[in-house]
Amino acid sequence: MASRLRGKRSTRPAQTVLLAGLLLAGTALAPMASATPSPVYKNPHASVSARVNDLLKRMSLDDKIGQMVQAERGAATPEQAAAMKLGSILSGGGSVPASNTPTGWADMVDAYEKAALSTPLGIPTIYGVDAVHGHNNVYGATIFPHNIGLGAAGDPQLVERIGRATAEEVASTGPQWDFSPCLCVARDDRWGRTYESFGESPRNAVENSSVITGLQGNELGAKKGSVLATAKHYIGDGGTTAGVDQGNTQISEQELRKTHLPPFKEAIKRGVGSVMISFSSFQGVRMHAQQYLITDVLKKELGFSGLVISDYNAINQIDGQDGFTHEEVRASVNAGIDMFMVPWDAPQFITFLHDEVAAGTVKMSRIDDANKRILGEKFKLGLFEHPYADRSLQKTFGSKDHRDLARQAVRESQVLLKNDGVLPLDKKNDKIFVAGKNANDMGNQSGGWTLTWQGQSGPVIPGTTILDGIKSKAGKGSTVTYDRAGDGIDPSYEVAVAVVGETPYAEGQGDRPSGFGLDAEDLATIAKLKATGVPLVVLTVSGRPLVLTDQLPQINALVASWLPGSEGAGVADVLFGDYNPTGKLSVSWPASAAQEPVNVGDGKKPLYPYGYGLKYERGGHH
Ligand code: BGC
Repeated sequence: MASRLRGKRSTRPAQTVLLAGLLLAGTALAPMASATPSPVYKNPHASVSARVNDLLKRMSLDDKIGQMVQAERGAATPEQAAAMKLGSILSGGGSVPASNTPTGWADMVDAYEKAALSTPLGIPTIYGVDAVHGHNNVYGATIFPHNIGLGAAGDPQLVERIGRATAEEVASTGPQWDFSPCLCVARDDRWGRTYESFGESPRNAVENSSVITGLQGNELGAKKGSVLATAKHYIGDGGTTAGVDQGNTQISEQELRKTHLPPFKEAIKRGVGSVMISFSSFQGVRMHAQQYLITDVLKKELGFSGLVISDYNAINQIDGQDGFTHEEVRASVNAGIDMFMVPWDAPQFITFLHDEVAAGTVKMSRIDDANKRILGEKFKLGLFEHPYADRSLQKTFGSKDHRDLARQAVRESQVLLKNDGVLPLDKKNDKIFVAGKNANDMGNQSGGWTLTWQGQSGPVIPGTTILDGIKSKAGKGSTVTYDRAGDGIDPSYEVAVAVVGETPYAEGQGDRPSGFGLDAEDLATIAKLKATGVPLVVLTVSGRPLVLTDQLPQINALVASWLPGSEGAGVADVLFGDYNPTGKLSVSWPASAAQEPVNVGDGKKPLYPYGYGLKYERGGHH
């Protein structure tokens, strides 16, 4: 997928106008609300199923098909979305309102809501975002470590609290739906979404599915700031051959069930309200056409009663050709997908699905099932009662409490891999040299899915960099000197800290088929520091373990910092021994790229095994 906007159409399809005309006509004929008793579906005291059934009886085929469609905000104004009766709107990664602030977002989402509520049945829309490490599209949000770091932290209760904090920040700005968590089990570190995975063992995603409880609450909608969570991507996204994004998971069903199914089972136990289907194929067939896995396994066998959503333009890929056809619409609806993320093609989807229903190739019972699931989640969420952004929650947006929580997560996620005694750093009378491209770069330490889809380098969001953290911890009599390239270091320094690793990427662009070691800049920085004879601490800021077997003899202490996000000071908490490291690898650290895939229990010998992580023998007060 080259660009988020790849599918964007420059002209608005004529059908939007047509539907708008129909809607206006319908509005004029609608009976006065006051003339009839309030319908059951509007009664908050009626049961969810009674409300769903009552509403369903009142809906036309247009209404029902509309509910099954989700468009990108850039493709439909609130009025157009309402005219098409769309069930949902999304912001893809980096799709933000002109004013990228909590108020800018709340005003935007509320406008979609207001338009939806002004239609004859007044069915609220639901707005979805990828808040995958905090509410990452919004400037000023708290940015938590990406999942790979949380997996290393091994603290599901902390992850639940992160879910709760994220939900509050999301809800405060309007969206009611989060396309998170990714419960992928990344089996090959060449995959660019490895950092969205809690780890290579199903156990990591199972345990950390606690984030769902954080996002939704114990019961969806029961508490303020509850958002609908999404277990994604069902199923096998992390198991593709050679770690190719959107590739083919060529394993037996038994292996699929053993490695990739357990997190979804657990998510369902926790009441997750939605499941997103994976772009990838299983045994050569696109997941979006897998009726057996979606309907028979997910819905029937596991008893999932929430809604199944397709991934971004993903139905287009069923036949391998650009765009989608009638056959692809039919196959994916009949496979059991309930809502369709057709960001730029809602009008065409609506037409095609109408055609399929008219031809009898998609049954009304399937359309009704999809609607029951979608409406059921909307009712549970309390959307009919509280459709608008809860702006009172904005006081927690990017708040100190949330940032403290993020800092704790950063601390807990650090994995100490090697230490000849140079760590922890002394706070007093120390002369510290800091270098490396990721020492003072907020964008690099936050990774992909930060403000934009792929992420970017530079001071893109507020927070503390790792360098800021080191500076603020260094105590009396200590000096901290920073130079990105390591220029200016001399033997008088007591320690050199090189913060190296990756620069931001997301799906597709993050695949590394030919290896993932340190780049030329990092190697030059390390060589320069080491040439002085000053003891060297290396921190890797990266979305995957990096191959550094050859550099290891030069390194006195090595810490995997993952992608910490906005609170870099948490790294310094560990470096200076205020927190004795507790992080453990949730991925095997490969000795070479050629060793991939390398996973716990496979008999291979990685550089550092799954579960590895040292503590300090001296210092450290934890
Ligand atoms: C990703 C999903 C994401 C969706 C919406 C897709 O490209 O695979 O994880 O939720 O976009 O942004």
